[in-house]
Amino acid sequence: MSNTLSTAELREAIDRVPRFALAHLPTPLEPLRNLSKELGGPTIWIKRDDCTGLAFGGNKTRHNEFLLGAALDEGADYFVWGAGVQSNNCRQTVAACVKAGIPIHIVLSRAHLDGPVETQGNLLLDQLMGASIEFVDAPVGPELDVIIADRAEQLRQKGHHPFFWNRNPVVQIAAISYVECAVEIAEQCQHERIDPAAIYVSSCGSTGSGLALGAAALGMNCPVKNIAPLTWPWDTANGHGRSRLRCCRAVAVFLTALRPQTSTFPRATSLRDTELRARTAWKPCSLSQGRSRSFWIRFTQAKPWPACLTTSAAEIFRSDDDVVFVHTGGTPVLFAMNDFLNKSITRRPSPFGE
Ligand SMILES: Cc1ncc(COP(=O)(O)O)c(C=O)c1O
Repeated sequence: MSNTLSTAELREAIDRVPRFALAHLPTPLEPLRNLSKELGGPTIWIKRDDCTGLAFGGNKTRHNEFLLGAALDEGADYFVWGAGVQSNNCRQTVAACVKAGIPIHIVLSRAHLDGPVETQGNLLLDQLMGASIEFVDAPVGPELDVIIADRAEQLRQKGHHPFFWNRNPVVQIAAISYVECAVEIAEQCQHERIDPAAIYVSSCGSTGSGLALGAAALGMNCPVKNIAPLTWPWDTANGHGRSRLRCCRAVAVFLTALRPQTSTFPRATSLRDTELRARTAWKPCSLSQGRSRSFWIRFTQAKPWPACLTTSAAEIFRSDDDVVFVHTGGTPVLFAMNDFLNKSITRRPSPFGE
């Protein structure tokens, strides 16, 4: 008897979990032919999870299908969420709550800001979508989590049933959505007749855990490479492991031989480090970074992307290999970086002169 599941069996297990429809699925899997040609291989395929649809999309829209499902299932009538001022997570969660007709309060940390809070990018969208917003100086992580839990408690005392950003249950519920993303990738790879050598993703939580679990459950051969976009005070790799285990229980995937081939890069490789390594390790990487600099730099994708390219550079992949890069979104942040990006754009000369 096979100890892995078919895509249909895994979908069936996922379908038993409460869910609220939000995302445009499946997201496309597209080859980056120009880049691959420029690099001389491997073929890099991009899984367009920036196109999940709701309020500029991103990975949290998948997460929120299951988080809203759990919240509605337990009769929640309020959401309390929080992260940094330019949180992609909050923007997508606000959108999800608007769609579900549930009010949401978000607690946003300005601890990492150099200057004043600017209403741009994700924050502008949070405001336009009608979230109630509170700014605090506590950094993202355990200190902010305490404030969020306190706001939820205050709502509870007023007679509400809040569903709030409570890291442990939330991360595990959300991971289910990326088990499904692994199913999509497996189906799409089958359709394209490719067998990826690796899957790269920006994650220090649900996204990479779910993908690794899904890939293992389906018996996919490739490792899932999680590149952490943030530094947490805890051990990210272990957190991924625990989250996989609980998510596995939640979707009732009890497989004896589940050994996800995964590697987490928990160290907060600063962007500068990553860029530097990417540049020195691989010339074409700096070339591609130069070309699309304004798109990738300081963007959540800026960490996994060079890592994907750097490991290719180290000749881990053959030129005829296929590598999948999951683009988890975060596009609105670009608008909050307008000044910075403007300075770094090299303008192409006009064919009509000045
Ligand atoms: C665009 C984007 N990609 C990836 C991540 C990582 O997601 P997670 O750690 O939940 O897997 C985040 C959030 O931190 C994000 O905003």
